[in-house]
Amino acid sequence: MSNLNREADKRETFSSGLAVFFATLSSAVGLGNIWKFPYMVGENGGGAFILIYLVCVFLVGMPVAISEFFIGRKTRSNAVDAFEKLKPGSSWKFVGYLGGITSFFVMLFYSTVGGWVYRYTFKALSMDFKSVGSMSIEDASLFVSSEFGNVVSSPVAPILWQIAFTGVVALIIFAGVKNGIEKVTKTLMPVLLVLIVLCAARSLTLEGAREGIDFLFTADFSAITPGVLLAALGLAFFKLSLGMGTMITYGSYFTKDNNMSATSAKVAISDIAVSMLAGLAIFPVVFTFGLEPGEGPGLLFNTIPLVFSRIPFGNVLIVAFFLLASIAATTAMTSMMAVPVSILNEKFKLNKGLSVLIVAGIVSAIGALTVHPSSLLGHIQLFGKSFFDLYDFLASNIFMPVGGLLTVVFVGWFVKKVLLFDELSNGGTVKNQAYLKAYGFLVKFVTPLLLIFIFLSSIGILSM
Ligand code: PFF
Repeated sequence: MSNLNREADKRETFSSGLAVFFATLSSAVGLGNIWKFPYMVGENGGGAFILIYLVCVFLVGMPVAISEFFIGRKTRSNAVDAFEKLKPGSSWKFVGYLGGITSFFVMLFYSTVGGWVYRYTFKALSMDFKSVGSMSIEDASLFVSSEFGNVVSSPVAPILWQIAFTGVVALIIFAGVKNGIEKVTKTLMPVLLVLIVLCAARSLTLEGAREGIDFLFTADFSAITPGVLLAALGLAFFKLSLGMGTMITYGSYFTKDNNMSATSAKVAISDIAVSMLAGLAIFPVVFTFGLEPGEGPGLLFNTIPLVFSRIPFGNVLIVAFFLLASIAATTAMTSMMAVPVSILNEKFKLNKGLSVLIVAGIVSAIGALTVHPSSLLGHIQLFGKSFFDLYDFLASNIFMPVGGLLTVVFVGWFVKKVLLFDELSNGGTVKNQAYLKAYGFLVKFVTPLLLIFIFLSSIGILSM
């Protein structure tokens, strides 16, 4: 037996189908739903953007997710060894390395926002938003946006919060699959859902509810440009944690009897539901309080304290909201960090503690130097973007879709069909195989062509 196979046999797995679902969902659901989705919908014109995003999820995201689950579970390996086992001696393993590198770009800006969310949890705990309830609409929105400005741009605090956030993630990874990831995710994901539903319910009874709903559900296609298409595609990748080896790594912990195409559908649909609920919680507030839907990354932080100021026991519930948002952000970042850590630990044979320390150290150090307005290099702009925006753009709009394209080309064209369908149908035992048939077609033709089309049009080669 080769070394690689012996290691695969020792590998931990999640303990049940439910654990697989919650762990995968905990990677998908995170700041993407409550922070990124709403502000991107706001910046890109509302309903039409959402429709395109949905097409990207079903025609591109799900096939990429299933392909990654296949690669991971079949080989039970980290992202690099997984490609190596399926095509020994080939260059495909560099797709795994690319994933490891991409994860750093994502972690750099994700941990920054994670730090803001931790900071807001403590602000809520110390009742910093208590007075908002008795303020006029104008004063309340001014107060909340100046609080956000202080959190982001004070000289040292955001750097320390980012390091704290990264440190917690490092500890969870260190604790392992069953004790760390599984325990945290199974209990807390359902509670987060309940709180978002509560927020949405309150928002929908605010004065601006009608306008908020119209904004989310009315599609104005004149706002759609190639750049917007690329943004929707990037969001689909970011949301479902694709194109950077995360789902290969989590797939390697899946149980052998898991129906992976069903898991991908359940995760995609639940994830969309959470994002839509977040939209329903946030946009009515935007229109009630006269905020700007396209105001960007501050949107979550400028709206949530306002909704809770209009809910009985809002001072307590806002603590719960930010606590759960912190947890969602932490578990999503855990899945990102698992990619390079498992490569260092298994491929480069570094011990686990050291691997975690190296990855968390690099993220903290580069983060501290570049992503905050007060960082040493924080004022520098490259290609007209701050480091924060650049990391996000490179990861979501370039590296993740390229990683996804290479993954589907690999699975659709270079993996033996028999091997692929045997694994995806669990040796022919999976009941409803209609979707698997569609998947075979999507992964070979539709998904790669759509990815290429969106790329070419966004760099102006195809005009629309
Ligand atoms: N899907 C996560 C979110 O929407 O917050 C972000 C994410 C997690 C991206 C894991 C990439 C990843 F590998």
